[in-house]
Amino acid sequence: MGAKRTLVLKPNEIRKASLIIRSGGTVAFPTETVYGLGANALDSEAVAKIFHAKGRPADNPLIVHISSREMLNMVARDIPVLAFKLMDAFWPGALTIILKRKDVVPDITTGGLDTVAVRMPAHEIALALITGSGVPIAAPSANISGRPSPTKAEHVIKDMDGRIDAVIMGGETRLGVESTVLDLTVTPPALLRPGGLCLEEIIGTIGEVNVIEESVRSPGMRYTHYSPKAKLILVEGERKSVLFEIKRLIGESRKHGLTAGVLVSRESALDIECDAKYILGSVNDLKEVASRLFSGLRFLDEAGVDVGIAEGVFPEKREGRAIMNRLRKAAKEWVSCYKEAGIK
Ligand code: TXA
Ligand code: MG
Repeated sequence: MGAKRTLVLKPNEIRKASLIIRSGGTVAFPTETVYGLGANALDSEAVAKIFHAKGRPADNPLIVHISSREMLNMVARDIPVLAFKLMDAFWPGALTIILKRKDVVPDITTGGLDTVAVRMPAHEIALALITGSGVPIAAPSANISGRPSPTKAEHVIKDMDGRIDAVIMGGETRLGVESTVLDLTVTPPALLRPGGLCLEEIIGTIGEVNVIEESVRSPGMRYTHYSPKAKLILVEGERKSVLFEIKRLIGESRKHGLTAGVLVSRESALDIECDAKYILGSVNDLKEVASRLFSGLRFLDEAGVDVGIAEGVFPEKREGRAIMNRLRKAAKEWVSCYKEAGIK
């Protein structure tokens, strides 16, 4: 690590990437959610390199990525029947499940917990890398801790160049938000993080899920997240009131000589005038918004604005749960317009 350059690999160079993983190195790779920063999950020295490269707190455990049920049995024990139901329905896919861990998984990978987070990603490159390496791969999102998760290889290079051994160029990720994290060591199962797989799908498959308030049980939820460099203000509520408030905030910023950039719905975009504008997508197309969200947070950095304002008008259902969760985490300030809803 250190000053060494990061090797940029093409999708047809997965063999090289696998060799790096097998020899204890770090490789960033695409998944269907976001890019991950991988290392051999069973090698504590390799996993330590991930924490070092990201500047990640040691008590924030990593997801172990697998490409087969055999690998699942290497890392987890006492797997409940519900887990198999979920795996049959959603793997490979954007669902991470928390299970009891086996002792071969080092403490550093699980942040000292006696549980392990496991996921089989739905991405050709990720699966080929895991299979080629022959070991489960621990991988958090491949961003500097606290920054927006990377949905393009360019984002990874921006954050990680010189800090990791290699990155596989795999284009833009399909879903754009991280996996849904579900704890299966409790009854009923608990949603620890809303994500790419919608809660509605999970409930449809296993029935009851405990949606716990801003989870204390997922250590990652305690830290600052997804933050652009500009101060981000999230304005939530009914769209007309939100639009009015956003215009007011832009005016306020200007009065103080500050530049303002916005992240807005397609529906509101034409009504807003400011220094930098990013269209997240339509309020009626939550998939589009999810896939563009993290690029939007990084856009505010590129635009170099002083203040960022996000329009929090996406309905909290399906992908909207993950979208609003990430926006709230990214925001430094929060304005609620719900009270004004209905007042013209
Ligand atoms: O889509 C994703 O999940 C991406 C890609 C690369 O797979 N990965 C990802 O990892 O988002 P990361 O490290 O950024 O988020 C993992 C989340 C954190 O909130 C962490 O605290 C939680 O999963 N987690 C990991 N192991 C856990 C465990 N044993 N118990 C509870 N939460 C756990
Ligand atoms: Mg992350």
